[in-house]
Amino acid sequence: MLGSIDYTSGMIRNDTDIHKKLTQRLVAWYKKNKRDLPWRHTNDPYAIWISEIMLQQTRVDTVIPFYERFLKTFPSVEALAQSPLSSVLKAWENLGYYSRARNLHAAARVLVERFGCKIPDDPHELLKLPGIGTYTAGAIASIAFGRAVPAVDGNVRRILCRVFAIHESTGDPEVLKALESMARTLVPEKNPGDFNSAIMDLGATLCRPKAPLCPSCPLESLCQARLLGLENELPVVEKRGKIPHRYGVCAMVFDDKARLLVVQRPSTGLLASLWKLPGGFSLNKKDMAGDLVREVNKELGIDIRVGEKIGSVDHVYTHFRLTLFAYEALWIKDSPSGAPIICHGCQDFRWASAKDLETLAFSRVDRMILSHLP
Ligand code: ADE
Repeated sequence: MLGSIDYTSGMIRNDTDIHKKLTQRLVAWYKKNKRDLPWRHTNDPYAIWISEIMLQQTRVDTVIPFYERFLKTFPSVEALAQSPLSSVLKAWENLGYYSRARNLHAAARVLVERFGCKIPDDPHELLKLPGIGTYTAGAIASIAFGRAVPAVDGNVRRILCRVFAIHESTGDPEVLKALESMARTLVPEKNPGDFNSAIMDLGATLCRPKAPLCPSCPLESLCQARLLGLENELPVVEKRGKIPHRYGVCAMVFDDKARLLVVQRPSTGLLASLWKLPGGFSLNKKDMAGDLVREVNKELGIDIRVGEKIGSVDHVYTHFRLTLFAYEALWIKDSPSGAPIICHGCQDFRWASAKDLETLAFSRVDRMILSHLP
């Protein structure tokens, strides 16, 4: 059978010099066609680390302006470690997946304390840092330090499944393991970073998930999926189940100085430590006002009276779809500046002026809902 996996070695059964050809063609193609990306103009492991963390689950075009701004604000491991987490979260605002920012900050402190501010070149050491998994360790070690290790993500898996016509599902952990060791055998000792970057570029520009541009591909004559006419069928990916739709409610409460009541999320969990409007999830969408009163009470220990609906926003997270409704609300207590509020479900709260709202870090959804402020 063409290109089937031998699960014990992870090798393709019947091709040895295909590997060499594949590597040579890919790297030659990359030299002529590589995308001009800012992190490709540096050898600084710190900058490469930042780029790889930002590129986790985020498109290149989105990352570029964040990467450039981040490096200006935090030009070194020391600068990042010395900054408060709130500034790092602010620099990350709108980039999403905020645990990346928290992990970067934590990792910078580990680098200062235990690694003399140097990013380690050994992928096993890199793996010990918060926020670095196998893919990122491989990408940093190969691109920044020339270590011959693979960086296997969805692009690599798709390309390998096509080139070697692998029909097994990439949802199977055994198949994933086999693809990882196949990738390991392909990475050349010379310029492994170029090889890994070449696969990233091939996956992004030609060997795309849908409608691959095979006639322009340097691997076309080697690609068994192409030879079999299966380039649109492979890889075999199991469809993800439908994600639930959840409803959220939040309150716009002002004090007598027209400042808005905002709360800081807990330091763990979804969007940890970012700021938001008080509120939470609605249980059944039937009594949103009642849900809002309950959630604000849980979070801040205060009672509110819910008024007009102001607006709503939609967002898709990894595990659920959210529609968030914002309501005007009154804080029904004697005086807004009275007894200190006890925060049950949040780290902190603040009566925020317009300027405060600019400087605090909010998630994209919360920023969008703030644009509905009356
Ligand atoms: N995706 C992940 N890492 C990347 C890199 N270094 N260049 C382009 N795309 C990437």
